[in-house]
Amino acid sequence: MKQLLDKEHVNPSVIKLSDKFELFTQQWTPKILASCNNQLVKIAKVSGEFVWHKHEGQDELFLVVKGKLTIDLPENESISLNEGDITVIPKGMEHRPRTEGEEVWILMIEPPETLNTGQHMNEMSISNPDWI
Ligand code: NI
Repeated sequence: MKQLLDKEHVNPSVIKLSDKFELFTQQWTPKILASCNNQLVKIAKVSGEFVWHKHEGQDELFLVVKGKLTIDLPENESISLNEGDITVIPKGMEHRPRTEGEEVWILMIEPPETLNTGQHMNEMSISNPDWI
């Protein structure tokens, strides 16, 4: 088995997060960096308030790369994530990401069918994010 794995080994590429964030300026516009086990790794620049939404069938992982992200949750709860902090919003839970005005850089892991605006289709919806 080990031999087989060695034969099929391909050197993985290095994805530099800081370089990738330099490639775009649009906010609330997720870009795809990688896929792994049928999940997509996306990054986005965000500032201000997003829309309340939920993902009925998918958990959504957030990692803050730069700045501080607050995620409002049901019943006036909220959580704040600083650089390096991670959370997973469970499927079906309403949430609203926001910042204190500063631009925040985030990384997300979610399945391909996850729409950024959840159950809503509106001007903020990005149905087919670009790879960068
Ligand atoms: Ni979401």
